[in-house]
Amino acid sequence: MSAAIRWDAVWTNVHLATLADTAGTADDYGTIRDGALAIDDGRVAWVGARRDLPARWRAETEHDGHNGWLTPGLIDCHTHLVYAGNRADEFELRVAGASYEDIAKAGGGIASTVRATRDAGEDELVAQAAVRLRQLSAEGVTTVEIKSGYGLDIANELKMLRAARRLAEMCGVKVRTTFLGAHALPPEFAGRADDYIALVCEEMLPAVADAKLADAVDAFCERIGFTPAQTARVFDAAGKHRLPVKLHADQLSDLGGGRLAAEYRGLSADHLEHASEASVRAMAEAGVAAVLLPGAFYFLRETQLPPIASLRRHGVPMAIATDCNPGTSPCTSLLLMLNMACTLFGLAPSEALAGVTRNAAKALGVGSEVGRLAPGQRADLALWDIAGPAELAYAFGANPLVARVVRGIADELK
Ligand code: NIG
Ligand code: FE
Repeated sequence: MSAAIRWDAVWTNVHLATLADTAGTADDYGTIRDGALAIDDGRVAWVGARRDLPARWRAETEHDGHNGWLTPGLIDCHTHLVYAGNRADEFELRVAGASYEDIAKAGGGIASTVRATRDAGEDELVAQAAVRLRQLSAEGVTTVEIKSGYGLDIANELKMLRAARRLAEMCGVKVRTTFLGAHALPPEFAGRADDYIALVCEEMLPAVADAKLADAVDAFCERIGFTPAQTARVFDAAGKHRLPVKLHADQLSDLGGGRLAAEYRGLSADHLEHASEASVRAMAEAGVAAVLLPGAFYFLRETQLPPIASLRRHGVPMAIATDCNPGTSPCTSLLLMLNMACTLFGLAPSEALAGVTRNAAKALGVGSEVGRLAPGQRADLALWDIAGPAELAYAFGANPLVARVVRGIADELK
């Protein structure tokens, strides 16, 4: 008789939303009812219906899912999680009628967070961001992207990125860091945007790349940010350091940001409310993911919807993220973003869940590692007390998370 297969752990008495390639499966969630999932060495070793488990297996640990649902650990693929202070005072101004752009032009906005972030020590930044990261992970987030962009000089951008790397170790979350030196013009470069871009390309980016502190490079291509030509200079410099790019694109106006991200074969173009059909087509052809940010749309009371129908028609993978930042989306609930993606943008709950798992992984360039329940993927999972996966997008203010599993280890069993 053949020897039993040995695994570190097996989950049974669970339903699975695998989010794996769903073609030919029961539904868009990749549902496997009464499933089983085996883990070995921190990775998924086997996934399927319980009745199809191999005849003889053994596991160090057998987890009972109590008839809940297992999904991939959630992925928040666009955040500005590391910053100091907050901008509640600007919220008061905006509610009284000032626009985001008015406030930015008057020296507030991103510039006010830059002042607070420059003044904060690295430990302080880590401590403030850790509170937000714990709020995200309490809702099943196991991977998060964190951008720099509130330092805007070499020392402070490096400080932000080091803080982001430290958070990964502290909170047991996989962190992907993004260098966003071209986020805003720092006050000392007022009127000299091209000189600042030269600093970003010739000094900041090389320092960040040398210290291996960034996994990608981003820019804010916008009337109140940088022009497409300046953005292209940053992307050229990223290419020299073999770093992939992504872009804050077409959020407040159509500057052709989606198309620009496509020209550079970017990982993602994010926001996209004002993106044109030509940009969407270019993104589809270049395999660029769309990252939709309903929290910023809601908080800025934006009315221009991102081109969802066109993204669908062209087959552009859609990801959803919090955009957690103090100015346009002070939000630490990725589940709330699922609900808003459906209610505000018209996504199906299955599209929203794919947006924080499979497609979010794609937007970070880590799709072979996380985002699906499939053999070989990291065993980063979330167990939910729900009767079906649509509930994750349906309820808001609820948190049905029962357990979060990181590299195979369950850390929050209630
Ligand atoms: O993603 N658009 C630029 N960056 C942020 C806002 C940052 C801020 O206002 O502090 C965003 O919306
Ligand atoms: Fe952002």
